[in-house]
Parts: sequence; C-alpha cells; structure tokens
Amino acid sequence: MKKKERVSAHMNPPQSDVTKVELHPISDDESVGFFACLTINRPDKLNALNGEVMTALKDVCAWMESTENVRVLVVTGAPPNAPPEGKRAKPHAFVAGADITEFAGAGSDVIREKFKDNAVEALWNLSKPTIAMVDGFALGGGCEVACSCDVRIASDRSTFGTPEINLGLIPGYGATQRLERLVGYGKAHEMIMTGDMVPAEEAHRIGLVNHVVAPEALEATTFDMARRIGSKSSHALKVGKQTVRSALDEALTEGVATEAEAFANLFDSEDKEIGVQAFLNRETAQWKHR
Ligand code: COA
Repeated sequence: MKKKERVSAHMNPPQSDVTKVELHPISDDESVGFFACLTINRPDKLNALNGEVMTALKDVCAWMESTENVRVLVVTGAPPNAPPEGKRAKPHAFVAGADITEFAGAGSDVIREKFKDNAVEALWNLSKPTIAMVDGFALGGGCEVACSCDVRIASDRSTFGTPEINLGLIPGYGATQRLERLVGYGKAHEMIMTGDMVPAEEAHRIGLVNHVVAPEALEATTFDMARRIGSKSSHALKVGKQTVRSALDEALTEGVATEAEAFANLFDSEDKEIGVQAFLNRETAQWKHR
C-alpha cells in the first residue's frame, strides 16, 4: 500500500482549538505504522486542563484505540508563545494542572460529574503504549497526566508537583494512587502534603521520571523511544502493558500466575512465530500485530 492510501486508511486524528495531533512514521518503511504526538495547546495558560482540553484528550484516546497502525502515543505541552512587546515570557509547561478558574464557585455535584470517566483515566486505560514528554511545569493534573502515561521523559528544566493542598484540596486525577506507586508512600505523602515542587533530577532519582535530558534533546530522545517501542509487535506490547498493570492490583503470587498465562497465550499468536523465525533467520521481524 502506498503512503497516501495508508494515511487515509486510518482516520484522520482529531484536532481541536486546544490540542493538536501529529503523526510520525515509525521507520522509513511506512507499512510499519506511526506514532502520534498529542500536544496540549494552551501555552498562555500553561496548558492548564480545562473542560475543552479534557474532551479533546478523550477524543484522541478513543481515536487511538480505533486506529490500527498508530502504535504509540506521545503526550506533551505546547511551548510558550513569544511574549507581547515589553511583557515577560510565560514559562515552559507540560501542564500546570486543572484549570483553577473552573474550580471557583463549583460544588461537589459539579466536580463529581466533571471528574467522572475523565480524560486522565481514558489515557491510563489506553491499551497502547504512552509516553509523557515533559518540558517545564508538570503540576497537579499535569503531574497526573504524566503519571497516567507508561513512561515519562523530562527536560532538565522541568518540575513536578501536586500543589492542590495550597488550594485546600487534594489531587483528583489519581496522584494519591499512581504517584504513590511510582515514588512510594513516604515521598507521595511529602509531595501531596507540602505541595512542594520536585525538580527533574530529583524526580528522576525517586523514580517519577525515566530519563532527564537537555531541552534540545527532549524531542529526539522521546521520539526515538516511541519509534523503538512502535517497531515491536503491537499485540505483544498490549499484553505486556496489561500484565505489568496487573502488578498494581494483584498480590505477587496471583500476578506471577497472570504473567504465566499471558506468556503461554502469546505462543498461539502469529507474532511469536514471526519473531522467533526472524531471530533464527537473522531477519527483521515483519509483525502482523496479532
Ligand atoms: N489554571 C488556570 N490558569 C493557570 C494555571 C492553572 N492551573 N496555571 C497557570 N495559569 C495561568 C495563570 O493564571 C496565568 O494566566 P494570565 O497570564 O492570564 O494571568 C498564566 O497561566 C501564566 O501563569 P503565571 O502564574 O503568571 O506564571 P508564573 O511563572 O508566575 O508561575 C506557576 C508559574 C506554575 C508556578 C503558577 O502558574 C502556578 O502556581 N500555577 C498553578 C499550579 C497549580 O496549583 N496547579 C494545580 C491546580 S489543581
């Protein structure tokens, strides 16, 4: 199939006023597929998550699930716009949290509805691999979006934090659970109780981010990983993601049994035979993704 036919064969990615999605080929051979880079695009508000962004994120997650040849999702925030004459530039941000203007005057009924089946859960529940590419503030909901991705790569000028306590609140998009699993009970308590920001190097040391790189290297490092992951069998990736996730909810003995079953089941997949034969014949595997 030619490039044009293949691009139109999967739906065009959903775009919005506050998000954009770009497709990048995984390799020179476009039959391998694509990865998508989703940019949250409200730089003047440090990419804060308002209702419009959350709806757009859910649309992108639904689209990702419905496409076959888009294999990995990278999530990032838009860089700052050039400041108007005489004004200071806004800082770099991944996402500086939920849009606080939407909290003013809101009661529990409104918030319960707004946070039900939210976009951060949609991202978490995506069956495909996800990478957060963080350049700048990842605060509150921004830290939680990052924690909902499978891998986090940050520039060395990034900072992470859960400052909701300063608003008389606690995190609402899963940080008490997912951040706790990444950094442990003590550090999660410290972050949530103090609201203090954690610089990228410390975030790396405590396991909150996988890699820290210079801002100029962030995109290349992230896209390289997206390409390397995207070149594997999507079927094996999906099973691997599900199985690692099961470790969060299952006891060790149960989890090891879950893995054994998932591993055995993969022996009935086409990709297992393709991968094994490719190794034995010293060839590159041409995955069927099933
Ligand atoms: N919701 C809504 N707007 C936000 C926002 C948020 N979470 N975070 C930043 N913004 C807006 C600011 O109101 C400001 O808008 P304006 O220029 O129209 O006034 C713009 O983004 C730039 O932010 P500003 O505060 O001027 O930048 P700064 O460099 O002085 O400070 C931060 C940067 C990140 C320290 C600061 O913006 C901040 O603390 N943000 C809130 C973080 C937070 O509490 N997140 C959790 C929310 S639950």
